[in-house]
Amino acid sequence: MRTAKRIEELPPYLFVEISKKIAEKQAKGEDVISLAIGDPDIPTPHHIIERLCQAAHDPVNHRYPESDGLPQFRRAIAEWYQRRFGVVLDPGKEVLPLIGAKEGIGHIALCFIDPGDIALVPDPGYPVYSIGTMFASGFSYYMPLTEENGFLPNLDSIPQDVARKAKILWINYPNNPTAAVAGLDFFERVVAFAHKHDLAVCHDGPYTEVAFDGYRPLSFLEAPGAREVGVEFHSLSKSYNMTGWRVGMVVGNHKIIDALTRVKSNLDSGIPQAIQHAAIEALGGPQDCIEEHNAIYQRRRDLLLQCLGQIGLKARPPRASLYIWARVPEGYSSLQFATTLLEEAGVVVTPGIGYGKHGEGYIRLSLTVPDHRLEEAVTRLSKWRASKKG
Ligand SMILES: Cc1ncc(COP(=O)(O)O)c(C=O)c1O
Repeated sequence: MRTAKRIEELPPYLFVEISKKIAEKQAKGEDVISLAIGDPDIPTPHHIIERLCQAAHDPVNHRYPESDGLPQFRRAIAEWYQRRFGVVLDPGKEVLPLIGAKEGIGHIALCFIDPGDIALVPDPGYPVYSIGTMFASGFSYYMPLTEENGFLPNLDSIPQDVARKAKILWINYPNNPTAAVAGLDFFERVVAFAHKHDLAVCHDGPYTEVAFDGYRPLSFLEAPGAREVGVEFHSLSKSYNMTGWRVGMVVGNHKIIDALTRVKSNLDSGIPQAIQHAAIEALGGPQDCIEEHNAIYQRRRDLLLQCLGQIGLKARPPRASLYIWARVPEGYSSLQFATTLLEEAGVVVTPGIGYGKHGEGYIRLSLTVPDHRLEEAVTRLSKWRASKKG
């Protein structure tokens, strides 16, 4: 049996490696606290689960769904975008439900990338942008996200011949892993750049609802002309603690939506309908849960930032996302430092290098662990630091 080259070329998925290390420690009876994965610990709100259970009992929902989703789900997405961002979408042409944002992000390269084509991809970045490109036999040109640039790509530094050959531009704000946010001026520059180079913009925005101190992140589609050049991926995973149910969406440019619908209708059979009904309830039902969750994350953010400050790690207070992006101390690589914290403090953090070359020098800490575990992690980190001083 001979597998395809693309399988051999796949880098190990970082989280799988981390999970293995955690499992090894746990097998030895050690207690490990993982701040490594952005998977909300707070359950899906009750009213959403109730709707899911009701819908699961209805035999109508036991059959194959349509791959472009229930019309009422597409309408619920359009209505949510209008209420939340003031963006008006045609639910028939500009909205496509996804089996989680990751599914659509992985598949969209098949709509644009022919062998040898280029995608412009942020570094550090969510790995699926470049993996999807690789699966379509394309190449990623990595745009460095640096602290000096507020973790926004410098579009002017992309060589002309690369920009000319590129088919897709990936951006992601609020950003994973850096937690940076983008303003309208940046999105406007992206629209102009995409027009100039005839690019499809894919904005990945699953963290727009996780924000602190009253900040309200923008949709890329709020930028004038955005819909002429691009789409926005979104998800119910982080907004409503629904990572396990696998439901998201992509909205915007109708040609891009049409192309992805065609790819998907040949590959999958849509989202289980009971889950679509739960998602309609999430988007259209009471929204108090969002503020409640953000208050919890904000408290955790402040606790962790205070601890990081005490142990000498520099980090900017994030205005949004589920993460803190902190510099590692002098003398450590990000992997060495993450390994040290795992071995010596029993705390798992993600080494920045796992998100690309420009993630080196940083670790990512996630706010998705229950308060008492986070407090324990903070205690362990403080003790670890004290032992080093001693
Ligand atoms: C930037 C980014 N995009 C997309 C996703 C995937 O979201 P979903 O659960 O909707 O597949 C994640 C998940 O961590 C993410 O961090």
